[in-house]
Amino acid sequence: MTKQEKTLTMTVLMTPDMANFSGNVHGGSLLKLLDQVAYACAAKYCKNYVVTAALDQVFFRQQVNVGELVTFYARVTHVGRSSMEVGVKVVAEHLRTNDKRHTTSCYFTMVAIDEHGNSCEVPRLILETDTEKKHFAAAELRKKLRQESLAKSSALFVELSEDEF
Ligand SMILES: CC(C)(COP(=O)(O)OP(=O)(O)OC[C@H]1O[C@@H](n2cnc3c(N)ncnc32)[C@H](O)[C@@H]1OP(=O)(O)O)[C@@H](O)C(=O)NCCC(=O)NCCS
Repeated sequence: MTKQEKTLTMTVLMTPDMANFSGNVHGGSLLKLLDQVAYACAAKYCKNYVVTAALDQVFFRQQVNVGELVTFYARVTHVGRSSMEVGVKVVAEHLRTNDKRHTTSCYFTMVAIDEHGNSCEVPRLILETDTEKKHFAAAELRKKLRQESLAKSSALFVELSEDEF
């Protein structure tokens, strides 16, 4: 049996076109890269087209600077029928000092889609190490919390009426 491809690493140099008005890297630029990494990791794992269904709260712990090298460490932590949780850890590295900072961690839910746009089954995740088992157990808990939080926030939802603008 071929080995499952569960992880993906991508390194990107932060260039001036990614900067915000303060000269640091724009949150949106990082979100775009995060989405690309999660897409590539999930698609490589299931060998299928995938879409982003959800992204858990993202907290930018530290700013990222233009000129730094940013590495995204992505891993498929959990698999349902058609969904995959992809955890991404972001580490920024100062090129001259080699100083490394963990700036963000977040979790995407990616869903495999067939040619008709319907969700489709993905390979079951084979847990080979204790770390993978820990990631899976934590992801199951996150999935449960996500579903509970979605149900609660749906109950609180107030439609923004276009007439108010
Ligand atoms: C994601 C999408 C395919 C889910 O469609 P759906 O009709 O709910 O599909 P299903 O009911 O078959 O659910 C598919 C999976 O998505 C998961 N899912 C659905 N809504 C979810 C949500 N809000 N958060 C996390 N996972 C979700 C389900 O739990 C299910 O997982 P499982 O198969 O592992 O059990 C659909 O909403 C979609 O295409 N969204 C647009 C995606 C997109 O365009 N993203 C780009 C950014 S805009």
